[in-house]
Amino acid sequence: MEAAAAFASKPSPPLHVAIIMDGNGRWAKARGLRRIVGHQQGAEAVRRTVKHCRELGVSYLTIYAFSSENWKRPPTEVDDLMGLMRLYLRRELDELVDAGVRMRFIGDRHRLPDDIIALVNQAEQRTRTSSGLTLTVALNYGGRREIVEAAQHLARDAAAGLLDPGDIDEKTFADRLATNGLPEPDLLIRTSGEQRISNFLLWQLAYTELVFIPAMWPDFTKQHLEDAINEFHRRERRYGASSG
Ligand code: FPP
Repeated sequence: MEAAAAFASKPSPPLHVAIIMDGNGRWAKARGLRRIVGHQQGAEAVRRTVKHCRELGVSYLTIYAFSSENWKRPPTEVDDLMGLMRLYLRRELDELVDAGVRMRFIGDRHRLPDDIIALVNQAEQRTRTSSGLTLTVALNYGGRREIVEAAQHLARDAAAGLLDPGDIDEKTFADRLATNGLPEPDLLIRTSGEQRISNFLLWQLAYTELVFIPAMWPDFTKQHLEDAINEFHRRERRYGASSG
């Protein structure tokens, strides 16, 4: 009876969780290891987190894997990150397909190495009818760039007479973003104690609950995810309205 009551009162999980996976470098440095080892452990944390989101009933997970600013890192580190992405997509795709995960990529894929573009296209193609967790990977992604591209798209449509500028509203704008069709994130988690958005999902995070946790990304566990979800449930979400 008590168990049934506890079950009935359990709040539903956030529909969409977004994560800024930060701290791979510091995790490695603290252990006297090379940065690539931190990124490798970060990729393992991605693998675990996909599993944990599925177990906890999260429907959408969006991760910031490579920002448009990450090209400024030393070429060897950029190569290492691309190598890891290559490995992840080759090694995990069958398992993701079997698990019913739908993969989607946002960001400018054209600047990526050709074989990674092919892997990204293949991952989207092979999982396009999957109906489980939607895993969106932000790769060479920048939020301002995404907004500028949506504005360009709308301006072109207006110039071509396809659209009256007066008819542009939040919905028509959001439809031109790379995240078109995805719900906005309910919860954003950033690891490593940094408290910034860093050009991630600038439009989409307007009403998202932000949870910053001190753990470095390679150390991220199911318990951290559950704690962040519990924190999300504790906060009252009012969308600008007054409390009842
Ligand atoms: C931040 O750590 C993390 C990144 C720049 C990239 C995240 C990449 C991964 C988790 C691995 C690959 C991803 C997939 C999907 C296979 P940082 O290097 O900025 O850490 P620091 O701030 O401590 O230096």
